[in-house]
Order: sequence, then structure tokens, then C-alpha cells
Amino acid sequence: MLTKILDEAKAEDLALAGKILREGGLVVIPTETVYGLAADASDPIAIRRIFDAKGRPSDNPLIVHISSLDQLEPLVSEIPDEAIWLAQRFWPGPLTLVLPKSELVSDELSGGLDTVAVRFPSNSTALAVIEAAGRPLAAPSANTSGRPSPTSFSHVLEDMNGKVDAIISGTESEVGVESTVLTLTGLPDKPAKILRPGGVTRAMLEEVLGVVELDPSILLNTVEEAPASPGMKYKHYAPKAQVVVVDASPEEYIRYVNDKQDSFALCFDEDSPELSVPFVSYGTRYDGALQARKLFEALHELDRRGAKKVHARIPSKNGVGLAVYNRLIRSAGFNTVNPYGHYIIGLTGPSGSGKTTVAKELEKLGCGVVDCDAITREPGVYDDECIRELQAAFGDDIAENGSLNRGLLAKRAFSSDHGKQLLNQITHPRILKRVIERIDQELEAGHKLVILDAPTLFESGIDSYCARIMVVNTNFELRLKRIMNRDGISQEQAITRLSAQNPNQFYLSRADHIVSGEGNYNLSKRLKPIVSGLMTKCH
Ligand code: TXA
Ligand code: MG
Repeated sequence: MLTKILDEAKAEDLALAGKILREGGLVVIPTETVYGLAADASDPIAIRRIFDAKGRPSDNPLIVHISSLDQLEPLVSEIPDEAIWLAQRFWPGPLTLVLPKSELVSDELSGGLDTVAVRFPSNSTALAVIEAAGRPLAAPSANTSGRPSPTSFSHVLEDMNGKVDAIISGTESEVGVESTVLTLTGLPDKPAKILRPGGVTRAMLEEVLGVVELDPSILLNTVEEAPASPGMKYKHYAPKAQVVVVDASPEEYIRYVNDKQDSFALCFDEDSPELSVPFVSYGTRYDGALQARKLFEALHELDRRGAKKVHARIPSKNGVGLAVYNRLIRSAGFNTVNPYGHYIIGLTGPSGSGKTTVAKELEKLGCGVVDCDAITREPGVYDDECIRELQAAFGDDIAENGSLNRGLLAKRAFSSDHGKQLLNQITHPRILKRVIERIDQELEAGHKLVILDAPTLFESGIDSYCARIMVVNTNFELRLKRIMNRDGISQEQAITRLSAQNPNQFYLSRADHIVSGEGNYNLSKRLKPIVSGLMTKCH
């Protein structure tokens, strides 16, 4: 079949796309999530052609794309209030709602289910094509079934040239992973449930709905069972290479991957300077949205470069990260390794959040604990050479007869940003060395989980040694009270100190685990599932 290439900037090309679709043809369209392989949603024969072009099992239903809210009503038998609230907040955008279907929805479209998935995309070309067709369009991702989803025109060309009537060349997909699929069919007895995570996060949905559940198939291998979303049971997103997800700290990941000279690294930007194997980066550690945008292109690039084996850095499951994690473990066929059989966990949060209490409880639960703050005050860190460097930077009088005048050093160093930087440059590598020694001691003592209690976990770079980040979250007023009591300072001084620190959101957005530090109530019970969950993954 000869595939026409259409230009999204040309009105006549969009009109032609509409005509092809009305006549039962297949057109690939750009959307903000991934490219979609579109056909007239009301035409069962055209829908069958979609399944053929993709090589997709026909029990896996398609999403119907609409360009106005009036198009929703005829497709569904019922619109709960929750659907209206969600539509107002997230449409147009990367959210798909599963609702009871109307008689207009064929079994071909819904894979024989009595529900239908509907999405109102935000991409202007997608909207213009739906308008031009004058009807809702069914569209799965425009990849061969099982392969990574297409986020650029060139990906589509690779998979679909010769198999469809037309491809519209558009821009790169902004979100980069498929829409969040949310089922509302359990309401009002059961909460809404995410069947597939995407650009609209659980937290965003909970702002509108209160409780939102996650389908277990999002995190687990449910290939053997029957998941709520049929799509989750098939192998997905896989490049030609064999992918292994490495569940370890950045430092351990680098050490492990550098030992695998026959393999590529699918890493973050931060890792790349240390790698001695070929690599492809999919973003940065704490930016889930960037990872989402880059993941599929990275998988495609690995194919282009002929990678046979790939070791991937594990992403966090926080926010959009959950969608990234979900796609990556599927692309790896759930092949995950924890190469050293332990987890180093960074424990942090702003002053007064209650880290020490949490650390003590974790210790009782069998974790090794390294108090990084205490290490910064250990005399051993400030050996003769260190003191000489500090004197050169801040003046000879900051030490006398080899002993440090901490007050004077602090005064000089903290008087400017440059001073702080200089102090960190001199002390951080030495502190880090001690931290690593202490980690090794805890591991040698047989601890599988080692907690690094570090108020400046990120600033000091100690997070590179952590496979997980645990953040203690406590409201501002309570933190204020705590540090006033603890350090005997005025409210004003306490406010100044807290304001100089990173805002709560800085910590929360980097967290793998969030623990409330607002009371000790049930603390042990709240920590236990986290600890045992990680323990079971150690060998
Ligand atoms: O972002 C997206 O959603 C992209 C673009 C093109 O819009 N489309 C997309 O479609 O990802 P597809 O077919 O690759 O994935 C649709 C997913 C599948 O996991 C399917 O099982 C699920 O949605 N799904 C569709 N209808 C459903 C239904 N009635 N009940 C439960 N899951 C459904
Ligand atoms: Mg797909």
C-alpha cells in the first residue's frame, strides 16, 4: 500500500485526512501523548484494519478520540458527575475515561467489553483531523503491537509506512507516554481506578475525586491473570534489545553497568560522565515529566544503534514517574535485578520534620542507620590537611594548634554563597568518604537496608549513594515549634532558618516514600510495609 505523507501545517492535507477517514481509511495522527493510528470509530471494518496494521490482538479495545464534549454523550450509556468534573479539569488532555458504553459502540471497538474508553486530546492537529472527519476516531498508539510507542514522525514511518493510507507529519509528542486510563465504572460503590498511569497523575486525579485506586497490573506482572485493562496483559514497549532494569543506587548502577562491556546503559544524564559503556540517556533523576518525554525515543535510539543488551536505571514511581516505571518494566519483560542484594535509603526532609524519630524507628525494624549530620561534626573529618585547606580559604586564625575554631569558621564561611561553596568543596569529599565507610560497616554487619539520615542529602550529593529516597513530611507550624523548643531559638530565628531551606515540595517531588512526621502514632506500623517490601527484594 502506498502511504501518503501529509503536512500538519496544510489545511488541504488535514481536509484530505478527514476524507480518507470518512471513507474507511487509516491515518496516523500526532497527539500530545504518542502518535495514534486513527480510523472512524463507527466503522467496524475500518477498526479491523487497525488491528491488522498493528498486528494487535482483537480483544484489546481501542480508545475513542473526541474533539468536543457533545461527542461524549452518544458513546456512553451514563455520565457520572465525576466524569464531568474530570472533563472540566483535564480535557482536552492526556486522560482517558472508561465508562459504560452505548449501543453505538461496536464490539470490534470495545473488544467485546460493555465499556468504552474516551479521550479528548489537546494536540491541535489531532483535534483538526477529528473535526475534518466530522466524527469520533478510534486510535491506538501507532506502533506495531509490542514495540515502543511512537513519539515522533520518524518512529511512525519506521513502523507504519506501507500499512496505512496516510501519515501526518507532526511535532514530537509533548507528554511522550500514553494517556492515563481511568475507569469510573465501579462508581459509586468503588472508587475510580487507574488502569494505566500517564501524564495525569494519581495525585492530580485525587485533587478532584478524593480517593483513586491503582490497578495492581500497573506495577506487577499480571500477564498470567486477567487484568481490568486488557492491554496490560500483553508484552509491550519492547525494543529489539533485551532490557534489564537495575534497581540500585546511581553509584551502584554505574559500577554494575561498567562491568557489562557487551551492554548499553539506558541511564540518566547524571550517570553518563561515569559510564565506560555506550549509553542513551532518558532524562534526569528527579524529573519524571522529562523521562516520560524521552523514554520511547531512547528505546528507539537503542534499536537504531543495534543494542542487543540494555541495562536501565530504575525510575522513581513518584508522579509521572509511575507511568515511566510502568512502561520501562514492561519493555524489560519485568526483568529487574537488585545486583548487590541491599538498599541504601536516603532519609531527609527540612529541619524539624522528625527525621531522627523516623530513623530510630527504622533502626528498631532492623535497618542500619548512618547519621550523616553527626559525621559532619566528627573530628576525624578535619584532619591536618583539611584544616590547612580551610585556613588557606578562610584565614589562618580559624584554627589554632591544629584545633578548629568552629564558630569563627562558620561565621566566615556562611557570610557568602561563595564561602559556603568553598567550605563544601573542602569538606564534602571527606564527609562522603566517612559516610561510605559507615555504609560498608552497616552492610558488613549484615543489614540489608541502610538508612542515611541526611538533612542535606541532595546538596551534599549523598543521594548518589541512595537507591531510594524517604522524605519525612511535616507541616510548617509544627516544624517551627519543634526547632524553637529543640534549639531554644525565637520564632523569628526559626522562621529565618526554615525559610533558608528548600520548600517542602522540593523534597516531596524527589521522594520514593513519604512518611508523615506529624505524630508518632502508628509510626512503626506505617514504616513496616515499606521495610518489608524492600527486604523481600534483597537476596
Ligand atoms: O495516549 C493514548 O491513549 C494513545 C493516543 C494515541 O491517544 N492511545 C493509546 O491507545 O495508547 P492504545 O490502544 O495503545 O491503548 C489503549 C489502552 C489499552 O491498554 C486498552 O486495554 C485500554 O486502553 N482500554 C481501552 N478500552 C478499554 C476499556 N473499555 N476498558 C478498559 N481498558 C480499556
Ligand atoms: Mg499502545
